[in-house]
Amino acid sequence: EKDGHDWFMRKEIFEQPESVAAALLGRHTERGQLMLDEVRIDDEALRDIDRIIVVGCGTAAYAGQVAKYAIEHWTRIPVEVELAHEFRYRDPILTRNTLVVAISQSGETADTLMAIRHARAQRAKVLAICNTNGATIPRESDAVIYTHAGPEIGVASTKGFLTQMVACYLLGLYLAQLRGTKFGDEIAAVVRDLDRIPAQVQQVLDGAQQVYDLAQELLDAKVVLFLGRHAGYPVAMEGALKLKELAYIHAEGFAAGELKHGPIALIEPGLPVFCVVPPRGRDQLHDKMVSAIQEIRARGARTIVLAEAGDTTVADVADELIELPQVPVLLQPLVATVPLQLFACELATLMGHDVDQPRNLAKSVTVE
Ligand code: M6R
Repeated sequence: EKDGHDWFMRKEIFEQPESVAAALLGRHTERGQLMLDEVRIDDEALRDIDRIIVVGCGTAAYAGQVAKYAIEHWTRIPVEVELAHEFRYRDPILTRNTLVVAISQSGETADTLMAIRHARAQRAKVLAICNTNGATIPRESDAVIYTHAGPEIGVASTKGFLTQMVACYLLGLYLAQLRGTKFGDEIAAVVRDLDRIPAQVQQVLDGAQQVYDLAQELLDAKVVLFLGRHAGYPVAMEGALKLKELAYIHAEGFAAGELKHGPIALIEPGLPVFCVVPPRGRDQLHDKMVSAIQEIRARGARTIVLAEAGDTTVADVADELIELPQVPVLLQPLVATVPLQLFACELATLMGHDVDQPRNLAKSVTVE
């Protein structure tokens, strides 16, 4: 049942190329035209959406943070992301032109369910992104995009996360197509990039041994930090969450720009810091990330740098370099998350923990 793996989690990590392919299947034509037939909100109403609020908990909320970067960029619709359990208590402003996107692997998370009930009571439209057919959250939503990752058994979400991000990208591109904020050929280009992701995730998985060796070296770590920028920032937080859940060690994800506003005080000799470097591009994101890595390294941090293959600028600042396939910055979370999942799974295994059933946690949190 675990396909020869020791844990469901590891099996599910290694299934991700197929899961991502399944999430994309049948949702665009060869020419990159998107078709999301489970979105039962008519196109007219979708054209009128003037605000999007994404709600979810834990890993699903991080998928929402990635979605914010992509959907705002492609559609120019303002997107907010909120933890589902905080959402209704702040008395959010909702109208019939607000689209609330509820992300939930299980579709049964009570906090998220309560958030969408609140949203619908205020006449907002609700679209669920869910992995479980017929679960409560999609049943109570106006529309649903199923992620088609197949059952996720391990408590730590892995293929659920990657496919949630894929669903969010598809939603963003669909809205862009509908509203004409991007030209067809630009959308088709992103769709082509998405279609390459399964093979690129496979490449990352083929390099698992490097990550496993690293876990062995870092077995005594008491604290691990993660840094990212832009879409890499939620990846950093997701990497940290995986370590907290599975290895029970203090881990934190920071936006690299925030370092000098406080967190850099945590840096001490030998402290492991994973750094997700954005692809080289026209903006300054990449270079600023590299200088942040320089700064922490000068203070003794042990830097584990995730950067795209061929990026020679990181060689001098990386104690360990994990090469990622070349993908556009908005899609980078799909490949950059994978080594962090492998690391947490392996470290927890070496520590002797139950990876599939970490202490104090349940797969689906059905109480508020
Ligand atoms: O089923 P959901 O996606 O609604 O679950 C949300 C969170 O409880 C979940 O992602 C949790 O954070 C995972 N254990 C993370 O690995």
